[in-house]
Amino acid sequence: MAAAGASLAAAPAPASATVTPLATASGMGPAPGPSPAPAAMALPPDRNARIYVAGHRGMVGSAIVRRLRALGYAHLVTAPRAELDLTDQAAVRAFFAAQPIDAVVLAAAKVGGIHANHTYPADFIADNLAIQCNVIQAAHAAGVQRLLFLGSSCIYPRLAPQPLREEALLTGPLEPTNEPYAVAKIAGIKLCESFNRQHGRDYRSVMPTNLYGPGDNFHPDNSHVIPALLRRFHEAARAGAPEVTIWGSGSPMREFLHVDDMAAASAHVLELPADVYRAHTQPMLSHVNVGTGVDCSIRQLAETIARVTGFGGRLSWDASKPDGTPRKLLDVSRLAALGWRATTPLERGLAQTYRWFLENEASLRA
Ligand SMILES: NC(=O)c1ccc[n+]([C@@H]2O[C@H](COP(=O)([O-])OP(=O)(O)OC[C@H]3O[C@@H](n4cnc5c(N)ncnc54)[C@H](OP(=O)(O)O)[C@@H]3O)[C@@H](O)[C@H]2O)c1
Repeated sequence: MAAAGASLAAAPAPASATVTPLATASGMGPAPGPSPAPAAMALPPDRNARIYVAGHRGMVGSAIVRRLRALGYAHLVTAPRAELDLTDQAAVRAFFAAQPIDAVVLAAAKVGGIHANHTYPADFIADNLAIQCNVIQAAHAAGVQRLLFLGSSCIYPRLAPQPLREEALLTGPLEPTNEPYAVAKIAGIKLCESFNRQHGRDYRSVMPTNLYGPGDNFHPDNSHVIPALLRRFHEAARAGAPEVTIWGSGSPMREFLHVDDMAAASAHVLELPADVYRAHTQPMLSHVNVGTGVDCSIRQLAETIARVTGFGGRLSWDASKPDGTPRKLLDVSRLAALGWRATTPLERGLAQTYRWFLENEASLRA
């Protein structure tokens, strides 16, 4: 995930097919004069739907924009943070009031690893609560009927049974290292459910497992396991190093999903008819896990990354370093029942990500 406040230096060109001039907090609104007749609402899968993707420069948001464009959506609305700070309630309201939006994908969040979560817990809870409240409330006020909120598998209790089912939510204490972030994500799910219950909205939530792929944060000290290992093995291979040492025993089991699969799953869930989504969820248990349903050991992961990067040396394990939780795997049967399964095998996804890393090495996010 991104370092706190990191920007995506290798960001794709502004991805919007339609970028409407922004209203600002200073009160700029629609032009004076008689209001135009409101345009008819078009909901996905109608390709005329005007979909606002919040966080379109992030790893996940940019993949969702690529996916929606590939599906033929021609009216995507985006706004970079420099023009629309989503923690600014008045600015978010003005943005929604200034243009027609039919559906929202909320992929903007303050995201970070253990170190960032430990150092900035107040920012992680306050910024994420503010972004979610502002976007969801403003979407509702503007009459947006459908919204997709992106959470995270860290919403589940630390000791919940594996694989993690949606029903495990709020059944026990959270992992303390990212509890403030997780509480904000849980609040996001509950915001969606509450607007559905009180106002008849169709606000949905997806909870992805660990993601990787193009646009990831490859920072040497502050990145997740896949980009960190890709970079270290790449550098070791280039230097002809005889050995790479990895923290822990290599035995923990983890699940990894390619970000393009995440984008495909997000589009799939966004496009589901309302009655289908409702039939597979409950009003107060409405989120859907997104993962592969398959895990691998950190040792298998490292061996695969060594192959992908062409590192021919030894792997050694520093078992004096902590392993973390032994296993973290999502139960993806709800998503499978909704008609979607991941398709990118880990080795293929890693090879594609490594190619992207090589092509963008000079401009990776800080
Ligand atoms: N990456 C993972 O492994 C993972 C796993 C599970 C869930 N998720 C979820 O997926 C979503 C996207 O994550 P990601 O990995 O794509 O993170 P990311 O790469 O850091 O992207 C986050 C995006 O949110 C934007 N943003 C943050 N604060 C903002 C603000 N105040 N105003 C406007 N925009 C703001 C960022 O803008 P800038 O470009 O200006 O920074 C960036 O475009 C998050 O909800 C995250 O919880 C990610």
